[in-house]
Amino acid sequence: MAKVTFFSGQQLPLEMHKVRIIQKLTLHPIEERRRAMAEAGYNTFLLQNADVFLDMLTDSGVNAMSDQQQAAMLIADDAYAGSATFTRLHRKLIEVFGMDWFLPTHQGRAAEHILAQALVQPGTFVPMNYHFTTSKAHVTARGGEVRELITAAGLEVTSDNQFKGNFDVAALRALIAEQGAEAIAYVRVEAGTNLIGGQPLSLANFRETTAVAREHGILTVLDASLLADNLHFNKTREEQCRDMTIPEITRAIADCFDVIYFSARKLGFGRGGGICIRDEALYKQMRGLVPMYEGFLTYGGMSVREMEAITVGLDETMDEDMINQGPQFIEHMVAELDARGIPVITPAGGLGAHLDAMRFLPHVPQQQYPAGALASALYIASGVRGMERGTLSEQRDANGVEPMANMELVRLALPRRVFTLSQVNYAIDRIGWLFEHRDLVGGLRFVEEPEILRFFYGRLEPIGGWVDELLAAFRADLADSL
Ligand code: F0G
Repeated sequence: MAKVTFFSGQQLPLEMHKVRIIQKLTLHPIEERRRAMAEAGYNTFLLQNADVFLDMLTDSGVNAMSDQQQAAMLIADDAYAGSATFTRLHRKLIEVFGMDWFLPTHQGRAAEHILAQALVQPGTFVPMNYHFTTSKAHVTARGGEVRELITAAGLEVTSDNQFKGNFDVAALRALIAEQGAEAIAYVRVEAGTNLIGGQPLSLANFRETTAVAREHGILTVLDASLLADNLHFNKTREEQCRDMTIPEITRAIADCFDVIYFSARKLGFGRGGGICIRDEALYKQMRGLVPMYEGFLTYGGMSVREMEAITVGLDETMDEDMINQGPQFIEHMVAELDARGIPVITPAGGLGAHLDAMRFLPHVPQQQYPAGALASALYIASGVRGMERGTLSEQRDANGVEPMANMELVRLALPRRVFTLSQVNYAIDRIGWLFEHRDLVGGLRFVEEPEILRFFYGRLEPIGGWVDELLAAFRADLADSL
């Protein structure tokens, strides 16, 4: 992806790939979308994809594959044990991260499960810059406690800070002093912090954070699921990385860690995951869990075809033109929304654009899930499916008390190499319309609230008749359009 200046003076992202396979989309009329949203219990996870126009729910497992990835899938070596495909993937990971040992898993959370089983004891702490839903769930299921040590800038919705994902190193020191190093299972650093807007960490911060952990003999673990975007930001925003190649930055980050795990549904444009480990003894400590929960050590629940695709995808992740596409589309979307006065997380991060529902719908109290309501309203108004990342995505504590999230976001993920700029512009247009009619949008309440990971399959209903009003306003403005 290059950024060229048009003769018109405009700066627009320019794709460095062409589309050779397409999938037909349908845009249902708003009345149909309203019915689909009601059937899905006002939870965008429960929508049928056939009812969705632009699926911005996630980038997980839905990035477009390249011709090279598809070609590699044809030479996959199907063997339960000792597949040449696995060896190719393993070699690629050694080349990229410089760690000798690798345990394959079927996806990222399976890697989290194994790490938590092996390393988290009841009463221990896992400090992290910020949690991800599944990473927290696995730590707490083992009786461990997550401590989020994000720098203050990370929780500011709008900011000029280029590295809002940075770990608060002083807070890490304080936690170690307070609890003792032996009470800390490991330090988890999440590249491209998912839940606070895909915000990156600087290479300097990766180094500082892990140096403190290592000084105290604490294991350092990188969640590299969103590393690709983080690398783009290191390269474009950090002085010391400007003259480094992407593989060099990757290795500089990897050198800080004892363990790197990832969701290959994101990193590597495929479907799978795994854990890279520096130390043989630790590898052996965790190894037994893979055949038990995932599959044999040479596939770990992944299909050989996906493993081939990931191997090529990791190479493509080392290519600036490939990893720039996501962040540059997101930057375009954020800049256009911001210019219309629409509250959005700034600076633009990776993963997607993030609407700030707290300021978009200031009249909807957090107890009525403003981000969930906004995601529902946006689907109804546009056919665009986003994801609630706010209080709905939290879980109740042991006493049944519902914690309020730090932020109420609607994430509009941009899977890599999937959408065109005119599709992104359509989404911007409809969000703009919704913002002008934001007073019409009301809250939601649970009809059915599951205990664990409730956001995935909980069902809700609108409080009051706001959906009717929204539909009427849309029809008044766009009588003959979808
Ligand atoms: N870590 C991070 C930072 C993630 O974003 C994800 C998944 C995982 C771990 C778990 O990996 O899905 O392969 O089991 N994020 C997806 C998302 C679900 O939509 O953001 P997984």
